[in-house]
Amino acid sequence: MQDLNGKIAVITGAASGFGRELAIQCAAAGMKLALADRDEAGIGATVALLPAGTETMERRCDVSKPDDVEALAEATYGRFGAAHLLFNNAGVAVSGPTWTTTLDEWKWVLDVNLMGVVHGIRSFVPRMLAQGQPAHVVNTASAAGLVSPPGSSVYCVSKHGVVTLSECLHHELRIAGHPIDVSVLCPAFVPTGIGESERNRPAELADSNPDSAFYTEVLKKAIASGKLTAADIARITLDAVRDNHFYIITHPTIKKAIEVRMQDILEERQPTNTLRLPR
Ligand SMILES: NC(=O)c1ccc[n+]([C@@H]2O[C@H](COP(=O)([O-])OP(=O)(O)OC[C@H]3O[C@@H](n4cnc5c(N)ncnc54)[C@H](O)[C@@H]3O)[C@@H](O)[C@H]2O)c1
Repeated sequence: MQDLNGKIAVITGAASGFGRELAIQCAAAGMKLALADRDEAGIGATVALLPAGTETMERRCDVSKPDDVEALAEATYGRFGAAHLLFNNAGVAVSGPTWTTTLDEWKWVLDVNLMGVVHGIRSFVPRMLAQGQPAHVVNTASAAGLVSPPGSSVYCVSKHGVVTLSECLHHELRIAGHPIDVSVLCPAFVPTGIGESERNRPAELADSNPDSAFYTEVLKKAIASGKLTAADIARITLDAVRDNHFYIITHPTIKKAIEVRMQDILEERQPTNTLRLPR
């Protein structure tokens, strides 16, 4: 989608990090915005950063809840009559070894990171098809959706799921001849609020990994060390939408790790750990 001016963007996770920067840059490109997050105050803070005159619709929405996402789609079409660019971006992260990851964590992370994207596709893609105009869906996965670093299998499972879900969706839309493009965003570490995801954990899923300390520290250090900013990720993402790139790999240095993983699979050898951890 070359020309974003006057079109409608829907952004989940719009209260912080990538979602906030996508909102700022979509608004700068002349888009109208439907901004969704479970953090209403954070959405307000995002709106305060937008250029004067930006048309917005703000909505509290928990993407793990299909009814919330359906209500978001209804409200978006009620207000703007269309949606051209959907960012299924809301996400959370936890750390710790697989064997002590709690069932609450499996439920929380998979429901937000994977089912949140599923809900976005189920509520918006049929409406985009009915509106009959070109549209684009960007699903936020991660480098952790392309390789398998130790430290959070639940996060990796959710993000690998988003990558394959996006690939399947792309193929199905092409086979059916529909004018909807798909991208999957796969960044490595970027300083945002993702290391403080506990703020988003629902009270009913409070049981946390008792052995998370080591990997939590590693993750926080890695996130803090990220050289690209959330604004860089938003800029790279919008460029990729304009040029219709499917895989958005914001940190090209991870390509070596992807290649090593693919080679491990093809040669049926033991998986290589390409993430060097401080021990
Ligand atoms: N920052 C990184 O290093 C990094 C790297 C790769 C991928 N990602 C992914 O990028 C996406 C955005 O994360 P970020 O880095 O901007 O983190 P962030 O914590 O700054 O932003 C995440 C946003 O999602 C919202 N959110 C969380 N749970 C929600 C729910 N159930 N319903 C609706 N909103 C919810 C939060 O309130 C927050 O506003 C996530 O999917 C994350 O997994 C981040």
